[in-house]
Amino acid sequence: MAKKVVFSGIQPSGVLHIGNYLGAIQQWVEGQAKYDNIFCVVDLHAITVPQDPKELTDNIYRTAATYLAAGINPRQSIVFVQSQVPAHAELAWLLNTITTMGELSRMTQFKDKSQKGGSGRASVGLFDYPVLMAADILLYGTQAVPVGEDQTQHVELARDLAQRFNHRFGKTFPVPEVILRKSGARIMGLDDPTKKMSKSASPANYIALTDSSDVIRKKIMRAVTDSGSTIKFDPKRAGLHNLLTIYQLFSGQTEAQIERHFAGKGYGDLKRELADLVIGKLTPLQTKIEHYMKNKRLLDAILKSGAKRAARLAHPMLTEVKRKLGLAQ
Ligand code: TYM
Repeated sequence: MAKKVVFSGIQPSGVLHIGNYLGAIQQWVEGQAKYDNIFCVVDLHAITVPQDPKELTDNIYRTAATYLAAGINPRQSIVFVQSQVPAHAELAWLLNTITTMGELSRMTQFKDKSQKGGSGRASVGLFDYPVLMAADILLYGTQAVPVGEDQTQHVELARDLAQRFNHRFGKTFPVPEVILRKSGARIMGLDDPTKKMSKSASPANYIALTDSSDVIRKKIMRAVTDSGSTIKFDPKRAGLHNLLTIYQLFSGQTEAQIERHFAGKGYGDLKRELADLVIGKLTPLQTKIEHYMKNKRLLDAILKSGAKRAARLAHPMLTEVKRKLGLAQ
């Protein structure tokens, strides 16, 4: 049986944190052999909020370098940059014509991101962002989308648009499913475990993939927990549960193994061991990322070849969509 087509992406804006790594990248690596994968650096999404062009370029490379350093093999999976395949923007325009303002107004990420200045000041790009994401997904006949929980509403929109297009113009797109991890789909902030870890929060909230060992240790030691003492996976103890989830995902151990290991130990022990574990995992990742950042020619070659493969896959779908819409080809 043919493997399922998987598509996912990360915005190259600001730093990547362990929420992005555990919620998205780590599950991509785990599913690499099982699926036909397309992993994209979604730079057109990143420009929907103000960006410094130099920093953006650096972030595009760094995001791609992170995919590769984490274990995405470019010979097995397609790795590319969104803006290098114009079909994404083109399909987004076509899908715009079957998307309603009401649907986009209900998107919680738009509401959050436009909160500061009000929707009147947000860019049209920010409003339209979920349609571009639907285009990313539908362009490749994607069947499954591995993301963190915060992206499920956007994948729902992609499903709705696929069904709507199929209904109006004849079967064209598979309806993609979201793939969420049982554990790790929502890594919480270290300083406030009631909210998801986010790069737009204060640095005490997240562990950036680029943080030094000292910084990682300090952030973990200061993480908010409760006044309890036993170490158990209890969702009601949000701070502890988050630290244990991070421990579980980086160690690959089961809940039972971890609880047994920490029986009789205190929160301080957990934090110290977690800091050692995270540092032990991120240090080699950082070295590999820097290796790619110093080899831009290699990175460019990988991304160019990925874009070529992606464009080849996208072409027949885009042509079919245009033909079905009655755009003479
Ligand atoms: P972005 O760049 O905000 O986040 C990238 C990925 O990281 C996940 N994530 C988390 N997972 C667990 N816990 C957290 N605290 C956490 N924070 C972030 C996100 O869910 C995501 O999987 N719109 C998307 C990018 C995108 C995309 C796509 C994704 C554009 N086109 C097509 C999939 C398919 C975004 O802004 O992700």
